Amino acid sequence: VCCSGSLPVASQSSQSTMTGANPVTVAGTERSSEWSGDAIRRRFLDFYAARGHKILPSSSLVPDDPTVFLTIAGMLQFKPIFLGKEPRRVPCATTSQKCIRTNDIENVGRTSRHQTFFEMLGNFSFGDYFKKDAIKWAWELTTKEYGLPPERLWISVFEDDDEAFSIWLNEVGVPKERIKRMGEDDNFWTSGATGPCGPCSEMYYDFHPERGSLNADLNDDSRFIEFYNLVFMQYNKNDDGSLEPLKQKNIDTGMGLERMARILQNVPNNYETDLIFPIMEKAASMALVSYSKADNAMRTNLKVIGDHMRAVVYLISDGVIPSNIGRGYVVRRLIRRVVRTGRLIGMRGDGHENSEGAFLPSLAETVISLSSEIDPDVESRRKSILGELQREELRFVQTLGRGEKLLDELLDEALGSAGDIGDKPCLSGKDVFLLYDTYGFPIEITAEIASERGVTIDMKGFDIEMENQRKQSQAAHNVIKLSVGNETEIIKSIPDTEFLGYESLFATAVVKGILINGNPVENVSEGTDVEILLDRTPFYAESGGQVGDNGFLYVYGEEGGKQNAVIEIKDVQKSLGNIFVHKGTIKQGSVEVGKKIDAAVDGKLRQGAKAHHTATHLLQSALKSVIGSETSQAGSLVAFDRLRFDFSFHRPLTEKELLEIESLVNQWISDATHLETNVMALQDAKNAGATAMFGEKYGEQVRVVEVPGVSMELCGGTHVSNTAEIRGFKIISEQGIASGVRRIEAVAGDAFVEYVCSRDNYMRHLCSSLKVKAEDVNSRVETIVEELRTARNEASSLRSKIAVLKAASLASKAVLVEPHNDPS
Ligand code: SER
Repeated sequence: VCCSGSLPVASQSSQSTMTGANPVTVAGTERSSEWSGDAIRRRFLDFYAARGHKILPSSSLVPDDPTVFLTIAGMLQFKPIFLGKEPRRVPCATTSQKCIRTNDIENVGRTSRHQTFFEMLGNFSFGDYFKKDAIKWAWELTTKEYGLPPERLWISVFEDDDEAFSIWLNEVGVPKERIKRMGEDDNFWTSGATGPCGPCSEMYYDFHPERGSLNADLNDDSRFIEFYNLVFMQYNKNDDGSLEPLKQKNIDTGMGLERMARILQNVPNNYETDLIFPIMEKAASMALVSYSKADNAMRTNLKVIGDHMRAVVYLISDGVIPSNIGRGYVVRRLIRRVVRTGRLIGMRGDGHENSEGAFLPSLAETVISLSSEIDPDVESRRKSILGELQREELRFVQTLGRGEKLLDELLDEALGSAGDIGDKPCLSGKDVFLLYDTYGFPIEITAEIASERGVTIDMKGFDIEMENQRKQSQAAHNVIKLSVGNETEIIKSIPDTEFLGYESLFATAVVKGILINGNPVENVSEGTDVEILLDRTPFYAESGGQVGDNGFLYVYGEEGGKQNAVIEIKDVQKSLGNIFVHKGTIKQGSVEVGKKIDAAVDGKLRQGAKAHHTATHLLQSALKSVIGSETSQAGSLVAFDRLRFDFSFHRPLTEKELLEIESLVNQWISDATHLETNVMALQDAKNAGATAMFGEKYGEQVRVVEVPGVSMELCGGTHVSNTAEIRGFKIISEQGIASGVRRIEAVAGDAFVEYVCSRDNYMRHLCSSLKVKAEDVNSRVETIVEELRTARNEASSLRSKIAVLKAASLASKAVLVEPHNDPS
């Protein structure tokens, strides 16, 4: 334990909500169990409730704010109130907020306090009380309620904040030498590049008071931990960085629950508190190891698992599904780290119901068993959380199994050959690409495993391989294969499906056919993967590049009311012209041919497809206007979260052309033009100048989608009704995929906002690591590279000099040896 000597103990009078009485032994040290995490949380909320604060629930980890990627602080749900955009409902409130921060993910488990998921306890004043009360209450809570010894508490204030300094000194009575003035980096809090902000004052706990006050540095992690931040929120930071005073002065505070638990429970790090440790213990038992006997490396691995498991369970519970972009990618990455770490320490599934060897479901059970006070909704989402985790783990394990063995061999080779020639070992771009392409092995995992063995990876070489492969495999794209086997018999007997999805996302229909693996059946029961044919449907079937809708089919009892079956639809394809094949899984109940069903399309995903589809039309027009009207479409993909547009052109587009295209599309989006859709004779459409896809067969009557003044295309897809719904458009890449064919990948709609915000977050982290403004990142990196080059050159010339000197010194010690006479 870091804190030696006297332990912080809560005053006896204030322990009415304590839970548990016996000390618990953790890794050989005794955890003081008077303060469970739940008790600390409860005491905080009760303390402020008794002082006029309304206790409010935590908001979702997915903020209702397009400028923020994930909920990083308690104040986010109150941002509109702080900014005066929404009226306050109460003068002051208190919460325990679920938060995620992934910027320090590499430090998780390695330091004593870095976490991805954590809870922030907060008290907030919306133009009600200000500095004096906030400071006095924070002191009273920590010293009287939690019973921290005052002499262990240190304070920081913003350098100019004389008022806060004087309150701490004169009214609270903290000695001068324990109040430090700090600069903007430490003591001016803002939630992002823009938004409400203000100077802050932080409370620190001193684990080593014996080191004295002289030269004490509050940023020294081995001695201090910051546990309570009081923000005096009085400005709004504008786009240009200027500070505008808010109409009212507010208070926003944040106390790290796990940090307070670490202090009060007397454990050496946040992970060993009762909030996380049970998850680590569960992992340890599944790996047949004991935390208390484990070495540091093993302990770090268990900490990573404990931390990340909480993050993934709460993220999935809040609706974030593993995917390759945005928040979905955060979850996927965290899951992959847990799976890989777990396998590394020998974890295997422990027979959790139907887990097929997956171990995440069992770990998630432990997380859920600890969740009732953090978020009571998690328990009710248990089934879908476990299912999602299991699917993702099994998918990833397949990938890993194939790649890991090969990677090991490749690393041996890289280390061997580097050793031979004295070079720094590096895995070639070809190898990284082979793992990625043939074995589906994620690049960041390759990099992580390689770096554990001291090997770097050649990303430039990887990019070149990727490019070559794209060129070669063009022909393989766009081939859609239906899994429907002997479809013709049944499908021939069924009339065309009536498509209702241009007008509506809901419809009542009749089940006309059910297929399992292509074979017709009369009914199916729970858990089966099926293909369902309906007489009419609001579901869009994949065509014209646009993916098929997702959603649900519901079967109701004869009298309506009771739900008899739920079928989750994950894809819809067209067969034999115009029969829509809804592919999905029976989630509950059973279905029969002839039953009436309610069909409901997932509106959010559809909105994504619509935004990307209209954006694809705008992109085509912009391309023609920037690089010339002779270019034509060679293919496209319109997904829920991205678009891909292939077109004929003989050279790469320049940076300037790409910017022009992007800005044209964004201009058309902000013009907020209404779309027009008409069905007309093919010839009329052509005469009107509608763009058609070369080589595509169209019927006599065609559907024409028009963005007046910008684009007119023959198209059967679904579109936004006004371009403003697209919100924004960003090109992610441009590359050649075959001779004379190029591809642009882009995002629009929600995916655009997520992409831009996450990029901006990366940029901010980069700026803060490099300690420069965004516009100076380039020159800073150039300087660093230059300095590195000079240092390398110097090192290498010094090495040569040393070698020469060594040789000379050896030569001077050489003695002449007479040849031996052979005695025989
Ligand atoms: N918003 C501040 C923080 O995150 C105080 O809650 O530290």
